[in-house]
Amino acid sequence: MPSSTPAALPGSTPAALRRVTGKQVVEVDEGAFADLRGRYSGAVLDVGTGDGKHPLHLAKAHPELLVIGLDAAKDNMRKAATRASAAPKKGGLPNLLYLWAAAEQLPRGLDGITELHVLMPWGSLLRGVLGSDPAMLAGLAGVCAPDATFLISLNLHAWRPPVPEVGTHAEPTPESAVEDLGPALKAAGWHLDSAAYLDAEAIAALATSWTRRLNSSRDQLDVLALTGRINPSAG
Ligand SMILES: C[S@@+](CC[C@H](N)C(=O)[O-])C[C@H]1O[C@@H](n2cnc3c(N)ncnc32)[C@H](O)[C@@H]1O
Repeated sequence: MPSSTPAALPGSTPAALRRVTGKQVVEVDEGAFADLRGRYSGAVLDVGTGDGKHPLHLAKAHPELLVIGLDAAKDNMRKAATRASAAPKKGGLPNLLYLWAAAEQLPRGLDGITELHVLMPWGSLLRGVLGSDPAMLAGLAGVCAPDATFLISLNLHAWRPPVPEVGTHAEPTPESAVEDLGPALKAAGWHLDSAAYLDAEAIAALATSWTRRLNSSRDQLDVLALTGRINPSAG
């Protein structure tokens, strides 16, 4: 977990829904979140959102979806959160919110997620999605609706040379990922359907700051996308 893991706000319980609205953090009532969720046909949760550019991009493109960026570090989300929570006539996006929480300790009331994204994870989030933290994977599956889809994009430079978080996992390839990572994901309700390298266009389409930063600083950026279903109702 990053060093700025959420600490309890005065008067709040540790797992309350904490919405970052800019410099402010406000607690969202579980009922208010359920009402908000009910207004949209689906909900995307971007875990480890960083500066939140990816959900901002999605929320603009998909006004029919509720889009949620979540990160254990709140300060990087401030700018996007200020924009999202502005009045709609001033460019605010009513379908976008940012939550301050660790993937290991998801807020009470977070529910009904139909699409889960984990893009360019590092630290405990990377360890978790590689299967070393089954409780984290199960917790994330617990906030998802049946047949939610997932997208994990792995920055393969984490293996070149290997960072401690990758543990004993060899660098995954489209051929090895399903066999190497599939069983641990499946045990937590995540069914890995496919693994594929992303080309430069697909990486750019994710609209995340990390892919942009890495793209500009390296000759080659290798990203492996893992996709599948969470809590599948069949198969
Ligand atoms: C390399 S950045 C990627 C940010 C963003 N997804 C992007 O592609 O631009 C990894 C992010 O994961 C967050 N993170 C790491 N461990 C986490 C955890 N356990 N729970 C929630 N967020 C976490 C970090 O705070 C950081 O913002």
